[in-house]
Amino acid sequence: MKLKSHIFVCTNQRPEGHVRGCCQSKNSEALVRAFKQELSQSGLNREVRAQKAGCLDVCEHGPAVVIYPEGVWYGNVSTQDVFEIVKSHIIQGKPVERLLIPGK
Ligand code: FES
Repeated sequence: MKLKSHIFVCTNQRPEGHVRGCCQSKNSEALVRAFKQELSQSGLNREVRAQKAGCLDVCEHGPAVVIYPEGVWYGNVSTQDVFEIVKSHIIQGKPVERLLIPGK
């Protein structure tokens, strides 16, 4: 089956104290699990895939998420935002404005 959307979650890890920080230290592994669970519960896991990604180069906005094919970037995403992103963005086609990374 052709994938409808692809959700990439940065899980890049850097050493503690690194000047750029990293998404993994901001709980992004849990975010991947939450997306997978939400997609599965919504019956979307065959057409929408969530997966780990390396650094998306927006570290200051982490945890960072980008959804393709739209190329919509989200920052400071927490597990509490997952339901809304899946419902609004994936199901209804409406990006979650409050989480958009400015200028991306
Ligand atoms: S470490 Fe996540 S965007 Fe760079």
